[in-house]
Amino acid sequence: MIILVAAMTRKRVIARSGVGLPWNIGEEKRHYMDIIRGKTIVMGRKTFAEMRHPFAGGHDIVVTRAAGRFENTDVCRTIDEAIAKAKEYGPDAYVIGGGQIFRQVIGFADRMLLSYIKKEYSGDIFFPRFSMRDWKVDKEEDFSEFTYVEYSRRG
Ligand SMILES: NC(=O)c1ccc[n+]([C@@H]2O[C@H](COP(=O)([O-])OP(=O)(O)OC[C@H]3O[C@@H](n4cnc5c(N)ncnc54)[C@H](OP(=O)(O)O)[C@@H]3O)[C@@H](O)[C@H]2O)c1
Repeated sequence: MIILVAAMTRKRVIARSGVGLPWNIGEEKRHYMDIIRGKTIVMGRKTFAEMRHPFAGGHDIVVTRAAGRFENTDVCRTIDEAIAKAKEYGPDAYVIGGGQIFRQVIGFADRMLLSYIKKEYSGDIFFPRFSMRDWKVDKEEDFSEFTYVEYSRRG
């Protein structure tokens, strides 16, 4: 399964260029880490560059058109190649962004695990729009600073 994981405001802001995440919410960070720990992660090169180190215990796959190698990380030149590599590790690929990658993967993702930050923050990198004709809500959970919603693609 291809699973998108993102945190966004209600206006779908996921980041601000040059800043990264516009918020710093410990509760959301812990929730996010609980989801992706030990998983096979697919991410764009810009998202990877913002992380201090690869996520412990899982497999990290970075998509870039540039040449290069990163320690403990698979580097793939296309999204298809990254998804194929993820499948070598197991059935589920957790696609964690950023905006460019979400836009290219949302059309064929199976599930989405989205955290909606309650406060609005300004930014210029967005999660793509999607229609509830294509997605259904499986679970919704309220936290003090965000609401967590799990979606799956309608059959
Ligand atoms: N709120 C959230 O849930 C969340 C999640 C993740 C990230 N973010 C934020 O999002 C921001 C980054 O998002 P972004 O949209 O600027 O960048 P991104 O999607 O993380 O990475 C973009 C890079 O990925 C590579 N790429 C994209 N499409 C490709 C393709 N089809 N084939 C090969 N390589 C491809 C390119 O790397 P090269 O230029 O090296 O070729 C491109 O520059 C960061 O600030 C991060 O903090 C937020």
